[in-house]
Parts: sequence; structure tokens; C-alpha cells
Amino acid sequence: MIDRVAVTNLLKTIRERFTFDNPVLNRDCTEFEVNNWTISRFVLHKLVPIVGVRPFPLNEQMLMVAALCRLQPTHIIEWGTNIGKSARIFYETCKTFGISAEIHSIDLPDDVMHGEHPREKRGLLVRGKEGVNLHLGDGLETSQNILSQSRNATIRPLFFVDGDHSYASVKRELEGIISNAPMANILLHDTFYQSAGSEYNIGPAQAIDDVLKSTPNDFNLLAQNTGLPGMTLLWRSGHTPGNYDHR
Ligand SMILES: C[S@@+](CC[C@H](N)C(=O)[O-])C[C@H]1O[C@@H](n2cnc3c(N)ncnc32)[C@H](O)[C@@H]1O
Repeated sequence: MIDRVAVTNLLKTIRERFTFDNPVLNRDCTEFEVNNWTISRFVLHKLVPIVGVRPFPLNEQMLMVAALCRLQPTHIIEWGTNIGKSARIFYETCKTFGISAEIHSIDLPDDVMHGEHPREKRGLLVRGKEGVNLHLGDGLETSQNILSQSRNATIRPLFFVDGDHSYASVKRELEGIISNAPMANILLHDTFYQSAGSEYNIGPAQAIDDVLKSTPNDFNLLAQNTGLPGMTLLWRSGHTPGNYDHR
């Protein structure tokens, strides 16, 4: 005899794990809004088994997914690649939610000394993944080459800045993006601010503050800054690309 309750529960579990509706709500309204329950299930069942919760805790993975779904970028340009966790988060999100973005991930060449350089593990989690392009070079310079080669007249790039986390680097990169790609939305990592007693690196937080004060811009700021490492999204309102196919 069929146990209807067990079957119903099984179907519910399968649905929870494998089907994800469009998480964007009220796209034509002014505020950034996504369905946090849908995105939670996606992060829990799809992303965490692949990327764990380091360096990106759950709240930051949720912001990354929300940014892609809400802003519908045509190009995702990130640095640094390291072993490819952020690139993999972007890849899985595009695949599941039908976002047709080119993903470009940049890290420094092997002969450049940097304490966090991944060497032979560079891009391990995204090697061979369709739509993911790995590049070697300085993030900002390489991103300019990538965008200048695009023939798409209506590009909407989303940058993910996660390279060197000194004040000077982040300031240079943020200013460079804003002047070279004025239409871009920008996510930045390691942006948590704490006062001096913590002895944390607050370079990225300070760089964002200073650049936003000194550069003409129309960004809205959305941050996951309850603790380390912290992530900030600078997004432009009036950004209402069309809906994608429901899945
Ligand atoms: C904190 S790790 C990035 C973590 C990575 N996004 C992930 O998903 O695991 C920093 C990376 O940035 C790279 N990097 C540092 N400065 C850079 C620059 N100017 N351009 C490109 N990559 C850079 C480092 O080699 C290192 O792999």
C-alpha cells in the first residue's frame, strides 16, 4: 500500500532541492527585492555543498546570488580567481536562474608575487565550465580589455572586486571601474568595518567611503556587514532589465 504522506514529503523534499522559481520580486518598483527563501534553498542545497562557507559565509553567498538575479548582468568580471569559489558561485547561479552572462575571472600571472596567489590551483573549481573565461593579468587592466572587445551595445557588467585588499588597491580599482564602465554595478569583498581596537584591515571599507564621497555617482549601497569578511554591493537604481524564463 502506498504511504501518501511519505510520498508527499518525498516530492516536497525533491522540489525543495531541485526547483528554484524566479527569486526577483517587484522588479518594476524602486527597491532592491528578492525572495530570500528561494535564495536560501539555492545556497543551502546547491552552493554550500560545492564551496562551503569560506571565504563566503551564507549571507554573502545570498548577496552574490541576489545581485545576479536582480541586476541580470551581461558580463560578470571578477578578480582574483584564486581557486575559483566566487566564479563557481556565479556560474551555478547563472545556470540555475537562466542568466546568460559571460563570466570572466582574472588572477595575477604566476611570476607575480602575491601572498594569496593560488599557483597551480588557480581556477580549479571552474576549469572547463561553459561560459567561464579565465584570464591572467591585473584585474582592472584586463577588465578594460575584455569590455573593449565586447560587441554588445547594451552591456550591463557586474564587477566583483576581490583581489588585493589594501586601501590603495581597492581605491584604484573602484575609481577605475567607475570611470571606465559608468554603467557597471559593483560587488566588493572584505568590506567589514570595525573600529581600531579590532586591528582589522579596514582598507576596503575606507576606500569605498572615500571614493563614493569624491566621485559623482548614483549608487545605492547594500551591505552584508554583520562581521568578517563583509561584502558590499553598489547598484544603480532605474536598472530594470527584463524578466528571464521561469524555471
Ligand atoms: C582573497 S583571494 C580571492 C578569493 C576568490 N575570489 C575565491 O573565490 O576564493 C585574492 C586573489 O586575488 C589575486 N590578486 C591580487 N591582486 C590582484 C590583481 N591586481 N589582479 C588580479 N588578481 C589579483 C590573488 O592572487 C589571489 O588569488
